[in-house]
Amino acid sequence: MADLSNPKEEVKKAADIIEVIGQYVQLKKRGQNYIGLCPFHSERSPSFTVNQDKQIYHCFGCGRGGDVFTFWMEYHNLSFPQSLKDLAERYNIPLPRDRDSFAERKKTELKELLYKINDLAGSYFHNILVKSDNGRPGRDYFSGRHLSQETISAFRLGYAIRKWDGLINYLGSKNISLDIGAKAGLLAPKKGGGYYDRFRDRIIFPIFDLNHQIIGFGGRILDDSLPKYINSPETPIYHKGNCLYGLDSAFKNIRERGLAIIVEGYMDMLVLRQHGISNVVATLGTALTSDQIRRLKGYTKDVVVLFDPDDPGREAALKSFPLFLNEGVSAKVLVLPGGEDPDSFVNRYGSEKFKELLKGAAPIFDFYMDQALAHMDIGVDGKIKILGEVLPIFMDVEQEATRSLYVHRFSEKTGINEAIVQEGLRHKTNASQLKDRFYSAQDLRKYGSDLQFLNLLVHYPERIDHFRDQEWELIVSDPEIVKIIRVLMEKFTLEGKLDRIEEFLDSPVAKEQFRVMLMSKPFYAEELVSQAVREFEEKIARVKISKSIRKASSEGDIEMLNRLIKAKQDLELDSKRT
Ligand code: GTP
Ligand code: MN
Repeated sequence: MADLSNPKEEVKKAADIIEVIGQYVQLKKRGQNYIGLCPFHSERSPSFTVNQDKQIYHCFGCGRGGDVFTFWMEYHNLSFPQSLKDLAERYNIPLPRDRDSFAERKKTELKELLYKINDLAGSYFHNILVKSDNGRPGRDYFSGRHLSQETISAFRLGYAIRKWDGLINYLGSKNISLDIGAKAGLLAPKKGGGYYDRFRDRIIFPIFDLNHQIIGFGGRILDDSLPKYINSPETPIYHKGNCLYGLDSAFKNIRERGLAIIVEGYMDMLVLRQHGISNVVATLGTALTSDQIRRLKGYTKDVVVLFDPDDPGREAALKSFPLFLNEGVSAKVLVLPGGEDPDSFVNRYGSEKFKELLKGAAPIFDFYMDQALAHMDIGVDGKIKILGEVLPIFMDVEQEATRSLYVHRFSEKTGINEAIVQEGLRHKTNASQLKDRFYSAQDLRKYGSDLQFLNLLVHYPERIDHFRDQEWELIVSDPEIVKIIRVLMEKFTLEGKLDRIEEFLDSPVAKEQFRVMLMSKPFYAEELVSQAVREFEEKIARVKISKSIRKASSEGDIEMLNRLIKAKQDLELDSKRT
Protein backbone atom coordinates (compact mmCIF):
# COMPACT_ATOMS: atom_id res chain seq x y z
CA MET A 1 0.00 0.00 0.00
CA ALA A 2 1.18 3.50 -0.70
CA ASP A 3 2.75 5.32 2.22
CA LEU A 4 0.31 8.15 2.79
CA SER A 5 2.49 9.75 5.42
CA ASN A 6 4.62 11.26 2.70
CA PRO A 7 2.60 11.68 -0.46
CA LYS A 8 5.17 13.99 -1.96
CA GLU A 9 7.84 11.30 -1.94
CA GLU A 10 5.35 8.80 -3.20
CA VAL A 11 4.43 10.95 -6.17
CA LYS A 12 8.06 11.69 -6.83
CA LYS A 13 8.86 8.03 -7.11
CA ALA A 14 6.01 7.43 -9.50
CA ALA A 15 6.36 10.52 -11.65
CA ASP A 16 9.72 10.04 -13.31
CA ILE A 17 11.19 13.42 -14.08
CA ILE A 18 12.41 12.41 -17.53
CA GLU A 19 8.98 11.19 -18.47
CA VAL A 20 7.19 14.23 -17.09
CA ILE A 21 9.50 16.87 -18.53
CA GLY A 22 9.93 14.82 -21.69
CA GLN A 23 6.32 15.47 -22.53
CA TYR A 24 6.97 19.16 -22.82
CA VAL A 25 10.62 19.48 -23.71
CA GLN A 26 12.44 17.53 -26.33
CA LEU A 27 15.18 15.78 -24.33
CA LYS A 28 18.28 14.07 -25.65
CA LYS A 29 20.50 11.76 -23.68
CA ARG A 30 23.93 13.27 -23.17
CA GLY A 31 26.18 11.24 -20.87
CA GLN A 32 24.51 10.90 -17.51
CA ASN A 33 22.05 13.66 -18.22
CA TYR A 34 19.32 14.57 -20.61
CA ILE A 35 19.45 17.96 -22.21
CA GLY A 36 17.03 20.14 -24.12
CA LEU A 37 16.04 23.71 -24.86
CA CYS A 38 14.97 25.53 -21.74
CA PRO A 39 11.22 26.18 -21.72
CA PHE A 40 11.68 29.08 -19.31
CA HIS A 41 13.98 31.38 -21.24
CA SER A 42 15.11 32.02 -24.80
CA GLU A 43 17.99 29.92 -25.94
CA ARG A 44 19.27 28.28 -29.06
CA SER A 45 21.64 25.71 -27.74
CA PRO A 46 20.42 23.47 -24.99
CA SER A 47 21.50 24.25 -21.43
CA PHE A 48 18.44 22.79 -19.77
CA THR A 49 19.66 19.63 -18.06
CA VAL A 50 17.68 16.85 -16.41
CA ASN A 51 19.21 14.17 -14.24
CA GLN A 52 17.31 10.95 -13.85
CA ASP A 53 19.28 9.58 -10.89
CA LYS A 54 18.75 12.62 -8.80
CA GLN A 55 15.33 13.43 -10.30
CA ILE A 56 16.21 17.08 -10.71
CA TYR A 57 16.60 19.56 -13.53
CA HIS A 58 18.70 22.65 -13.87
CA CYS A 59 19.09 25.22 -16.60
CA PHE A 60 22.65 26.49 -16.91
CA GLY A 61 21.32 29.40 -18.93
CA CYS A 62 18.73 30.94 -16.66
CA GLY A 63 19.48 29.17 -13.41
CA ARG A 64 16.00 27.77 -12.92
CA GLY A 65 15.76 24.28 -11.57
CA GLY A 66 14.26 21.94 -9.05
CA ASP A 67 12.36 18.70 -8.92
CA VAL A 68 9.39 17.38 -10.80
CA PHE A 69 7.03 19.54 -8.73
CA THR A 70 8.97 22.73 -9.34
CA PHE A 71 8.82 21.98 -13.04
CA TRP A 72 5.11 21.37 -13.00
CA MET A 73 4.47 24.54 -11.00
CA GLU A 74 6.56 26.72 -13.25
CA TYR A 75 5.53 25.22 -16.53
CA HIS A 76 1.81 25.25 -15.86
CA ASN A 77 1.84 28.25 -13.61
CA LEU A 78 0.26 26.40 -10.70
CA SER A 79 0.65 26.26 -6.93
CA PHE A 80 2.51 23.44 -5.24
CA PRO A 81 -0.61 21.76 -3.86
CA GLN A 82 -2.25 21.85 -7.27
CA SER A 83 0.87 20.40 -8.90
CA LEU A 84 1.06 17.67 -6.31
CA LYS A 85 -2.56 16.90 -6.99
CA ASP A 86 -2.15 16.88 -10.77
CA LEU A 87 0.81 14.57 -10.67
CA ALA A 88 -0.72 12.34 -8.03
CA GLU A 89 -3.77 11.98 -10.20
CA ARG A 90 -1.70 11.18 -13.26
CA TYR A 91 0.24 8.50 -11.48
CA ASN A 92 -2.66 7.27 -9.46
CA ILE A 93 -1.29 8.07 -6.02
CA PRO A 94 -3.96 8.61 -3.37
CA LEU A 95 -3.58 11.83 -1.40
CA PRO A 96 -4.71 12.67 2.12
CA ARG A 97 -6.78 15.83 2.39
CA ASP A 98 -4.45 18.69 1.70
CA ARG A 99 -4.06 21.56 4.03
CA ASP A 100 -2.97 24.62 2.06
CA SER A 101 -3.33 28.12 3.21
CA PHE A 102 -6.81 29.51 3.10
CA ALA A 103 -6.11 31.93 0.26
CA GLU A 104 -4.38 29.30 -1.79
CA ARG A 105 -7.20 26.89 -1.27
CA LYS A 106 -9.71 29.52 -2.40
CA LYS A 107 -7.77 30.16 -5.57
CA THR A 108 -7.44 26.50 -6.34
CA GLU A 109 -11.09 25.98 -5.63
CA LEU A 110 -12.05 28.77 -7.98
CA LYS A 111 -9.87 27.36 -10.75
CA GLU A 112 -11.36 23.95 -10.24
CA LEU A 113 -14.83 25.40 -10.40
CA LEU A 114 -13.95 27.18 -13.59
CA TYR A 115 -12.71 23.99 -15.20
CA LYS A 116 -15.83 22.24 -14.05
CA ILE A 117 -18.22 24.85 -15.33
CA ASN A 118 -16.39 25.06 -18.63
CA ASP A 119 -16.67 21.33 -18.92
CA LEU A 120 -20.40 21.46 -18.22
CA ALA A 121 -20.90 24.29 -20.68
CA GLY A 122 -18.80 22.43 -23.25
CA SER A 123 -21.05 19.40 -22.95
CA TYR A 124 -24.14 21.58 -23.04
CA PHE A 125 -23.08 23.26 -26.30
CA HIS A 126 -21.89 20.00 -27.80
CA ASN A 127 -25.07 18.11 -26.99
CA ILE A 128 -27.19 20.82 -28.50
CA LEU A 129 -25.14 20.66 -31.65
CA VAL A 130 -25.20 16.92 -32.09
CA LYS A 131 -28.52 15.93 -30.53
CA SER A 132 -31.05 18.69 -30.10
CA ASP A 133 -33.58 20.04 -32.56
CA ASN A 134 -32.34 23.45 -31.56
CA GLY A 135 -28.94 22.51 -32.88
CA ARG A 136 -29.99 22.40 -36.51
CA PRO A 137 -28.56 25.79 -37.47
CA GLY A 138 -25.20 24.68 -36.07
CA ARG A 139 -25.30 21.33 -37.83
CA ASP A 140 -26.24 22.99 -41.10
CA TYR A 141 -23.44 25.45 -40.69
CA PHE A 142 -20.80 22.80 -40.10
CA SER A 143 -21.97 20.64 -42.92
CA GLY A 144 -21.79 23.71 -45.15
CA ARG A 145 -18.16 23.99 -44.10
CA HIS A 146 -17.49 20.30 -44.62
CA LEU A 147 -16.67 19.42 -41.03
CA SER A 148 -17.20 15.76 -40.32
CA GLN A 149 -18.94 14.15 -37.37
CA GLU A 150 -15.56 12.85 -36.17
CA THR A 151 -14.01 16.29 -36.17
CA ILE A 152 -17.01 17.70 -34.36
CA SER A 153 -16.78 15.16 -31.60
CA ALA A 154 -12.98 15.05 -31.40
CA PHE A 155 -12.89 18.79 -30.76
CA ARG A 156 -16.16 18.86 -28.81
CA LEU A 157 -17.55 21.57 -31.06
CA GLY A 158 -20.90 22.96 -30.11
CA TYR A 159 -23.69 25.38 -30.79
CA ALA A 160 -25.12 28.08 -28.55
CA ILE A 161 -28.82 28.67 -29.18
CA ARG A 162 -30.28 32.03 -30.01
CA LYS A 163 -31.49 32.86 -26.50
CA TRP A 164 -30.30 35.13 -23.73
CA ASP A 165 -30.71 32.51 -21.05
CA GLY A 166 -30.03 29.12 -22.64
CA LEU A 167 -26.88 28.39 -20.69
CA ILE A 168 -28.20 30.28 -17.68
CA ASN A 169 -31.15 27.90 -17.40
CA TYR A 170 -28.91 24.92 -17.89
CA LEU A 171 -26.50 26.01 -15.17
CA GLY A 172 -29.50 26.72 -12.94
CA SER A 173 -30.73 23.18 -13.42
CA LYS A 174 -27.30 21.95 -12.29
CA ASN A 175 -27.29 24.24 -9.26
CA ILE A 176 -24.27 26.16 -10.47
CA SER A 177 -23.93 29.72 -9.26
CA LEU A 178 -24.23 32.26 -12.05
CA ASP A 179 -21.46 34.31 -10.46
CA ILE A 180 -19.08 31.50 -11.29
CA GLY A 181 -20.51 31.39 -14.79
CA ALA A 182 -19.60 35.04 -15.07
CA LYS A 183 -16.10 34.45 -13.68
CA ALA A 184 -15.67 31.80 -16.36
CA GLY A 185 -16.59 34.41 -18.95
CA LEU A 186 -19.60 32.42 -20.12
CA LEU A 187 -22.11 34.91 -18.77
CA ALA A 188 -21.98 38.67 -18.99
CA PRO A 189 -23.49 41.06 -16.43
CA LYS A 190 -26.69 42.92 -17.30
CA LYS A 191 -26.88 46.61 -16.61
CA GLY A 192 -29.64 46.34 -14.04
CA GLY A 193 -28.15 43.28 -12.32
CA GLY A 194 -28.23 39.64 -13.24
CA TYR A 195 -26.56 37.98 -16.22
CA TYR A 196 -27.11 36.92 -19.81
CA ASP A 197 -25.47 34.31 -22.06
CA ARG A 198 -22.34 35.67 -23.71
CA PHE A 199 -22.50 33.18 -26.57
CA ARG A 200 -25.76 33.23 -28.49
CA ASP A 201 -26.57 31.78 -31.88
CA ARG A 202 -22.94 30.93 -32.43
CA ILE A 203 -20.87 27.91 -33.30
CA ILE A 204 -18.77 27.03 -30.26
CA PHE A 205 -15.10 26.07 -30.24
CA PRO A 206 -13.86 24.95 -26.82
CA ILE A 207 -10.21 25.79 -26.17
CA PHE A 208 -8.23 23.15 -24.28
CA ASP A 209 -5.10 23.26 -22.16
CA LEU A 210 -2.40 20.61 -22.37
CA ASN A 211 -4.29 18.45 -19.90
CA HIS A 212 -7.22 18.54 -22.28
CA GLN A 213 -9.39 20.60 -19.95
CA ILE A 214 -11.50 23.41 -21.37
CA ILE A 215 -10.07 26.80 -20.43
CA GLY A 216 -12.15 29.04 -22.68
CA PHE A 217 -14.37 29.25 -25.73
CA GLY A 218 -14.56 30.87 -29.11
CA GLY A 219 -17.85 31.47 -30.83
CA ARG A 220 -18.48 32.19 -34.49
CA ILE A 221 -21.58 33.86 -35.84
CA LEU A 222 -23.42 31.90 -38.53
CA ASP A 223 -23.78 34.68 -41.06
CA ASP A 224 -21.87 37.77 -42.04
CA SER A 225 -22.77 39.93 -39.07
CA LEU A 226 -20.19 41.34 -36.73
CA PRO A 227 -18.30 40.58 -34.66
CA LYS A 228 -17.55 37.40 -36.56
CA TYR A 229 -15.87 35.78 -33.58
CA ILE A 230 -16.11 36.37 -29.88
CA ASN A 231 -13.84 34.71 -27.35
CA SER A 232 -13.85 34.16 -23.62
CA PRO A 233 -12.30 37.07 -21.75
CA GLU A 234 -9.14 36.45 -19.70
CA THR A 235 -9.96 34.38 -16.63
CA PRO A 236 -7.80 32.78 -13.92
CA ILE A 237 -7.46 29.76 -16.21
CA TYR A 238 -7.49 31.37 -19.65
CA HIS A 239 -4.65 33.55 -20.89
CA LYS A 240 -4.98 34.14 -24.57
CA GLY A 241 -1.36 35.17 -25.07
CA ASN A 242 0.12 31.86 -24.10
CA CYS A 243 -2.31 29.36 -25.46
CA LEU A 244 -2.39 27.77 -28.86
CA TYR A 245 -5.59 26.24 -30.11
CA GLY A 246 -5.13 22.54 -30.72
CA LEU A 247 -1.75 22.16 -29.01
CA ASP A 248 -3.07 19.47 -26.65
CA SER A 249 -3.93 17.23 -29.57
CA ALA A 250 -0.99 18.24 -31.75
CA PHE A 251 2.11 18.21 -29.60
CA LYS A 252 2.94 14.54 -29.98
CA ASN A 253 2.67 14.82 -33.71
CA ILE A 254 4.66 18.03 -33.78
CA ARG A 255 7.48 16.32 -31.95
CA GLU A 256 7.39 13.31 -34.22
CA ARG A 257 7.43 15.37 -37.39
CA GLY A 258 9.83 17.94 -36.01
CA LEU A 259 7.64 20.66 -37.47
CA ALA A 260 4.75 22.81 -36.28
CA ILE A 261 2.35 24.58 -38.59
CA ILE A 262 0.76 27.74 -37.23
CA VAL A 263 -2.46 29.03 -38.73
CA GLU A 264 -4.68 31.90 -37.69
CA GLY A 265 -8.14 30.50 -37.34
CA TYR A 266 -10.17 27.84 -35.61
CA MET A 267 -11.59 26.63 -38.88
CA ASP A 268 -8.20 26.49 -40.53
CA MET A 269 -6.82 24.28 -37.79
CA LEU A 270 -9.85 21.99 -37.81
CA VAL A 271 -10.03 21.54 -41.54
CA LEU A 272 -6.31 20.75 -41.80
CA ARG A 273 -6.68 18.20 -39.03
CA GLN A 274 -9.60 16.64 -40.78
CA HIS A 275 -7.41 16.29 -43.83
CA GLY A 276 -4.84 14.37 -41.85
CA ILE A 277 -2.43 17.19 -41.16
CA SER A 278 -1.98 16.78 -37.44
CA ASN A 279 0.96 18.99 -36.54
CA VAL A 280 -1.01 22.21 -36.70
CA VAL A 281 -2.07 24.77 -34.10
CA ALA A 282 -3.88 28.11 -34.33
CA THR A 283 -3.19 31.50 -32.75
CA LEU A 284 -6.80 32.65 -32.87
CA GLY A 285 -6.26 35.92 -34.60
CA THR A 286 -3.90 37.52 -32.11
CA ALA A 287 -0.32 38.39 -32.92
CA LEU A 288 2.08 35.59 -32.07
CA THR A 289 3.68 36.02 -28.66
CA SER A 290 7.02 34.76 -27.41
CA ASP A 291 5.12 32.73 -24.81
CA GLN A 292 3.40 30.87 -27.59
CA ILE A 293 6.67 30.29 -29.40
CA ARG A 294 8.22 29.03 -26.20
CA ARG A 295 5.35 26.60 -25.77
CA LEU A 296 6.16 25.15 -29.15
CA LYS A 297 9.90 25.02 -29.03
CA GLY A 298 9.82 22.26 -26.46
CA TYR A 299 8.57 20.09 -29.29
CA THR A 300 10.33 21.43 -32.32
CA LYS A 301 12.56 24.21 -33.53
CA ASP A 302 11.00 24.35 -36.98
CA VAL A 303 7.83 26.22 -37.62
CA VAL A 304 5.85 27.21 -40.68
CA VAL A 305 3.48 30.12 -40.23
CA LEU A 306 0.69 30.89 -42.63
CA PHE A 307 0.34 34.61 -43.11
CA ASP A 308 -1.83 36.44 -45.57
CA PRO A 309 0.01 38.12 -48.43
CA ASP A 310 -1.19 41.60 -47.51
CA ASP A 311 -0.15 44.51 -45.34
CA PRO A 312 -1.34 43.01 -42.03
CA GLY A 313 0.27 39.71 -42.98
CA ARG A 314 3.55 41.42 -43.79
CA GLU A 315 3.37 43.36 -40.57
CA ALA A 316 2.62 40.24 -38.55
CA ALA A 317 5.56 38.46 -40.16
CA LEU A 318 7.85 41.36 -39.41
CA LYS A 319 6.73 41.58 -35.79
CA SER A 320 7.18 37.90 -35.12
CA PHE A 321 10.55 37.75 -36.86
CA PRO A 322 12.68 38.82 -33.85
CA LEU A 323 10.56 36.68 -31.53
CA PHE A 324 11.43 33.58 -33.49
CA LEU A 325 15.06 34.58 -33.84
CA ASN A 326 15.44 35.22 -30.14
CA GLU A 327 13.84 31.93 -29.27
CA GLY A 328 16.15 30.13 -31.65
CA VAL A 329 13.21 28.83 -33.62
CA SER A 330 13.51 28.78 -37.35
CA ALA A 331 10.35 30.11 -38.92
CA LYS A 332 9.19 29.93 -42.47
CA VAL A 333 6.18 31.50 -44.06
CA LEU A 334 3.76 29.88 -46.40
CA VAL A 335 1.42 32.01 -48.45
CA LEU A 336 -1.33 30.17 -50.20
CA PRO A 337 -2.04 31.19 -53.77
CA GLY A 338 -5.19 33.01 -54.77
CA GLY A 339 -5.64 34.64 -51.39
CA GLU A 340 -7.05 31.39 -50.00
CA ASP A 341 -6.90 30.58 -46.35
CA PRO A 342 -5.89 27.05 -45.31
CA ASP A 343 -9.48 26.02 -44.83
CA SER A 344 -10.70 26.98 -48.29
CA PHE A 345 -7.46 25.87 -49.92
CA VAL A 346 -7.50 22.34 -48.55
CA ASN A 347 -11.19 21.96 -49.26
CA ARG A 348 -10.57 22.95 -52.83
CA TYR A 349 -7.24 21.35 -53.69
CA GLY A 350 -6.74 18.67 -51.03
CA SER A 351 -4.02 18.09 -48.50
CA GLU A 352 -1.37 16.72 -50.87
CA LYS A 353 -1.20 20.02 -52.66
CA PHE A 354 -0.98 21.76 -49.32
CA LYS A 355 1.91 19.57 -48.19
CA GLU A 356 3.67 20.23 -51.44
CA LEU A 357 3.41 23.99 -50.95
CA LEU A 358 4.58 23.56 -47.38
CA LYS A 359 7.93 22.36 -48.66
CA GLY A 360 8.42 25.61 -50.53
CA ALA A 361 7.81 27.86 -47.52
CA ALA A 362 10.23 30.80 -47.44
CA PRO A 363 12.24 31.91 -44.41
CA ILE A 364 10.28 34.58 -42.61
CA PHE A 365 12.74 37.37 -43.32
CA ASP A 366 12.78 36.65 -47.03
CA PHE A 367 9.00 36.64 -47.00
CA TYR A 368 8.93 40.05 -45.39
CA MET A 369 11.50 41.50 -47.76
CA ASP A 370 9.80 40.12 -50.84
CA GLN A 371 6.46 41.44 -49.70
CA ALA A 372 7.90 44.82 -48.82
CA LEU A 373 9.73 45.16 -52.11
CA ALA A 374 6.73 44.02 -54.10
CA HIS A 375 4.20 46.20 -52.35
CA MET A 376 6.07 49.43 -52.02
CA ASP A 377 7.18 51.93 -54.50
CA ILE A 378 10.78 50.88 -54.82
CA GLY A 379 12.21 54.29 -55.42
CA VAL A 380 14.34 56.04 -52.87
CA ASP A 381 11.41 56.70 -50.59
CA GLY A 382 10.12 53.16 -50.73
CA LYS A 383 13.42 51.67 -49.70
CA ILE A 384 13.86 54.17 -46.95
CA LYS A 385 10.44 53.27 -45.67
CA ILE A 386 11.43 49.62 -45.56
CA LEU A 387 14.63 50.54 -43.76
CA GLY A 388 12.52 52.44 -41.26
CA GLU A 389 10.37 49.38 -40.63
CA VAL A 390 13.30 47.08 -40.33
CA LEU A 391 15.69 49.03 -38.10
CA PRO A 392 13.67 48.72 -34.88
CA ILE A 393 13.13 45.05 -35.67
CA PHE A 394 16.85 44.49 -36.12
CA MET A 395 17.39 46.14 -32.80
CA ASP A 396 15.17 43.59 -31.13
CA VAL A 397 17.46 40.83 -32.33
CA GLU A 398 19.57 39.98 -29.34
CA GLN A 399 22.55 38.23 -30.93
CA GLU A 400 25.05 40.55 -32.59
CA ALA A 401 26.15 37.97 -35.14
CA THR A 402 22.62 37.13 -36.19
CA ARG A 403 21.83 40.78 -36.55
CA SER A 404 24.82 41.39 -38.81
CA LEU A 405 23.79 38.50 -40.94
CA TYR A 406 20.36 39.97 -41.47
CA VAL A 407 21.71 43.46 -42.03
CA HIS A 408 23.84 41.95 -44.74
CA ARG A 409 20.91 40.19 -46.35
CA PHE A 410 18.79 43.29 -46.06
CA SER A 411 21.31 45.37 -47.91
CA GLU A 412 21.72 42.72 -50.56
CA LYS A 413 18.00 42.75 -51.23
CA THR A 414 17.46 46.50 -51.19
CA GLY A 415 20.74 47.74 -52.53
CA ILE A 416 20.92 50.05 -49.52
CA ASN A 417 24.49 50.07 -48.41
CA GLU A 418 25.28 47.89 -45.42
CA ALA A 419 27.31 50.67 -43.84
CA ILE A 420 24.26 52.90 -43.87
CA VAL A 421 22.14 50.31 -42.14
CA GLN A 422 24.90 49.62 -39.64
CA GLU A 423 25.20 53.29 -39.06
CA GLY A 424 21.49 53.56 -38.46
CA LEU A 425 21.93 50.88 -35.83
CA ARG A 426 25.07 52.32 -34.34
CA HIS A 427 24.08 55.95 -34.54
CA LYS A 428 22.53 55.84 -31.14
CA THR A 429 23.79 52.90 -29.16
CA ASN A 430 20.85 53.26 -26.88
CA ALA A 431 18.18 51.21 -28.56
CA SER A 432 15.23 53.15 -27.29
CA GLN A 433 16.74 56.41 -28.46
CA LEU A 434 17.33 54.95 -31.85
CA LYS A 435 13.77 53.72 -31.87
CA ASP A 436 12.63 57.25 -31.14
CA ARG A 437 14.85 58.55 -33.85
CA PHE A 438 13.28 56.20 -36.34
CA TYR A 439 9.94 56.01 -34.73
CA SER A 440 7.97 58.04 -37.15
CA ALA A 441 8.17 56.80 -40.69
CA GLN A 442 7.80 60.41 -41.69
CA ASP A 443 10.98 61.40 -39.87
CA LEU A 444 12.88 58.51 -41.22
CA ARG A 445 11.79 59.23 -44.71
CA LYS A 446 13.15 62.72 -44.37
CA TYR A 447 16.35 61.73 -42.65
CA GLY A 448 16.88 58.78 -44.92
CA SER A 449 16.22 60.67 -48.07
CA ASP A 450 18.61 63.40 -46.89
CA LEU A 451 21.30 60.78 -46.57
CA GLN A 452 20.55 59.29 -49.92
CA PHE A 453 20.67 62.63 -51.64
CA LEU A 454 23.98 63.44 -50.00
CA ASN A 455 25.25 59.99 -50.89
CA LEU A 456 24.34 60.56 -54.50
CA LEU A 457 26.17 63.88 -54.64
CA VAL A 458 29.25 62.60 -52.85
CA HIS A 459 29.64 59.53 -55.01
CA TYR A 460 28.62 61.08 -58.28
CA PRO A 461 29.86 64.66 -57.81
CA GLU A 462 29.53 65.31 -61.52
CA ARG A 463 25.80 65.49 -60.80
CA ILE A 464 26.18 68.31 -58.27
CA ASP A 465 25.95 70.93 -60.98
CA HIS A 466 22.64 69.54 -62.09
CA PHE A 467 21.01 70.45 -58.80
CA ARG A 468 22.66 73.79 -58.24
CA ASP A 469 19.86 75.84 -59.66
CA GLN A 470 17.10 73.72 -58.29
CA GLU A 471 15.52 74.35 -54.93
CA TRP A 472 17.10 71.25 -53.46
CA GLU A 473 16.84 72.64 -49.94
CA LEU A 474 13.15 71.86 -50.10
CA ILE A 475 13.88 68.16 -49.89
CA VAL A 476 16.68 68.17 -47.31
CA SER A 477 15.49 68.62 -43.78
CA ASP A 478 18.55 67.95 -41.66
CA PRO A 479 20.36 71.30 -41.17
CA GLU A 480 23.79 69.62 -40.97
CA ILE A 481 23.24 67.93 -44.28
CA VAL A 482 22.05 71.19 -45.78
CA LYS A 483 25.37 72.71 -44.69
CA ILE A 484 27.37 69.94 -46.29
CA ILE A 485 25.51 70.16 -49.57
CA ARG A 486 25.86 73.91 -49.66
CA VAL A 487 29.62 73.61 -49.29
CA LEU A 488 29.66 70.90 -51.93
CA MET A 489 27.82 73.14 -54.36
CA GLU A 490 30.18 76.03 -53.81
CA LYS A 491 33.51 74.26 -53.57
CA PHE A 492 33.27 71.27 -55.80
CA THR A 493 32.59 73.38 -58.83
CA LEU A 494 35.57 75.54 -58.02
CA GLU A 495 38.00 72.76 -57.25
CA GLY A 496 36.63 69.78 -59.15
CA LYS A 497 37.40 67.43 -56.28
CA LEU A 498 36.16 66.55 -52.85
CA ASP A 499 39.48 66.53 -50.99
CA ARG A 500 39.21 69.78 -49.14
CA ILE A 501 35.48 69.94 -48.55
CA GLU A 502 35.83 68.95 -44.94
CA GLU A 503 37.91 72.01 -44.17
CA PHE A 504 35.03 74.21 -45.16
CA LEU A 505 32.56 72.54 -42.86
CA ASP A 506 32.20 74.44 -39.64
CA SER A 507 30.53 71.93 -37.34
CA PRO A 508 32.00 68.66 -36.04
CA VAL A 509 28.74 66.88 -36.78
CA ALA A 510 28.81 67.93 -40.41
CA LYS A 511 32.48 66.96 -40.70
CA GLU A 512 31.81 63.53 -39.33
CA GLN A 513 28.71 63.01 -41.42
CA PHE A 514 30.64 63.97 -44.53
CA ARG A 515 33.55 61.66 -43.73
CA VAL A 516 31.23 58.76 -43.09
CA MET A 517 29.54 59.41 -46.38
CA LEU A 518 32.87 59.47 -48.21
CA MET A 519 33.74 56.11 -46.74
CA SER A 520 30.37 54.54 -47.38
CA LYS A 521 29.62 52.79 -50.59
CA PRO A 522 27.24 54.36 -53.07
CA PHE A 523 23.53 53.63 -52.63
CA TYR A 524 23.05 53.67 -56.33
CA ALA A 525 24.82 51.53 -58.80
CA GLU A 526 26.07 53.38 -61.84
CA GLU A 527 23.08 52.41 -63.96
CA LEU A 528 20.60 53.68 -61.36
CA VAL A 529 22.07 57.14 -61.04
CA SER A 530 19.99 58.75 -63.75
CA GLN A 531 16.81 57.35 -62.30
CA ALA A 532 17.78 58.57 -58.85
CA VAL A 533 18.51 62.04 -60.17
CA ARG A 534 15.11 62.08 -61.80
CA GLU A 535 13.40 60.97 -58.62
CA PHE A 536 15.02 63.72 -56.61
CA GLU A 537 14.08 66.26 -59.24
CA GLU A 538 10.50 65.15 -59.18
CA LYS A 539 10.47 65.32 -55.46
CA ILE A 540 11.68 68.89 -55.53
CA ALA A 541 9.00 69.74 -58.06
CA ARG A 542 6.31 68.12 -55.94
CA VAL A 543 7.32 69.96 -52.81
CA LYS A 544 7.48 73.19 -54.76
CA ILE A 545 4.00 72.79 -56.13
CA SER A 546 2.61 71.86 -52.74
CA LYS A 547 4.13 75.00 -51.33
CA SER A 548 2.67 77.16 -54.08
CA ILE A 549 -0.69 75.49 -53.60
CA ARG A 550 -0.66 76.43 -49.97
CA LYS A 551 0.29 79.96 -50.88
CA ALA A 552 -2.33 80.31 -53.61
CA SER A 553 -5.02 78.92 -51.41
CA SER A 554 -4.16 81.22 -48.54
CA GLU A 555 -4.26 84.13 -50.96
CA GLY A 556 -7.50 82.90 -52.49
CA ASP A 557 -6.01 82.82 -56.00
CA ILE A 558 -8.42 80.26 -57.46
CA GLU A 559 -7.10 80.40 -61.00
CA MET A 560 -3.54 79.81 -59.86
CA LEU A 561 -4.74 77.08 -57.55
CA ASN A 562 -6.43 75.19 -60.37
CA ARG A 563 -3.37 75.41 -62.54
CA LEU A 564 -1.14 74.15 -59.75
CA ILE A 565 -3.39 71.25 -58.89
CA LYS A 566 -3.43 70.25 -62.53
CA ALA A 567 0.36 70.47 -62.64
CA LYS A 568 0.61 68.32 -59.55
CA GLN A 569 -1.61 65.67 -61.05
CA ASP A 570 0.44 65.62 -64.21
CA LEU A 571 3.58 65.21 -62.21
CA GLU A 572 2.11 62.31 -60.31
CA LEU A 573 1.05 60.64 -63.52
CA ASP A 574 4.52 61.15 -64.89
CA SER A 575 6.24 59.62 -61.95
CA LYS A 576 3.90 56.62 -62.08
CA ARG A 577 4.74 56.09 -65.70
CA THR A 578 8.46 56.06 -65.16
P1 GTP B 1 -13.94 31.79 -41.06
O1 GTP B 1 -14.53 32.98 -41.73
O2 GTP B 1 -14.89 31.09 -40.13
O3 GTP B 1 -13.19 30.88 -41.98
O4 GTP B 1 -12.92 32.34 -40.05
P2 GTP B 1 -11.38 32.54 -40.22
O5 GTP B 1 -10.73 31.69 -39.20
O6 GTP B 1 -10.96 32.42 -41.64
O7 GTP B 1 -11.36 34.02 -39.77
P3 GTP B 1 -10.33 35.12 -40.05
O8 GTP B 1 -9.25 34.70 -40.98
O9 GTP B 1 -11.17 36.30 -40.35
O10 GTP B 1 -9.72 35.30 -38.60
C1 GTP B 1 -8.79 34.39 -38.07
C2 GTP B 1 -9.00 34.23 -36.59
O11 GTP B 1 -9.02 35.50 -35.99
C3 GTP B 1 -10.35 33.63 -36.23
O12 GTP B 1 -10.31 32.24 -36.23
C4 GTP B 1 -10.59 34.18 -34.87
O13 GTP B 1 -9.89 33.46 -33.88
C5 GTP B 1 -9.98 35.55 -34.95
N1 GTP B 1 -11.00 36.53 -35.29
C6 GTP B 1 -11.53 36.81 -36.50
N2 GTP B 1 -12.48 37.75 -36.44
C7 GTP B 1 -12.57 38.06 -35.13
C8 GTP B 1 -13.38 38.99 -34.41
O14 GTP B 1 -14.25 39.68 -34.94
N3 GTP B 1 -13.16 39.06 -33.06
C9 GTP B 1 -12.24 38.30 -32.42
N4 GTP B 1 -12.08 38.43 -31.09
N5 GTP B 1 -11.45 37.42 -33.07
C10 GTP B 1 -11.62 37.30 -34.41
MN1 MN C 1 -11.49 31.17 -43.10
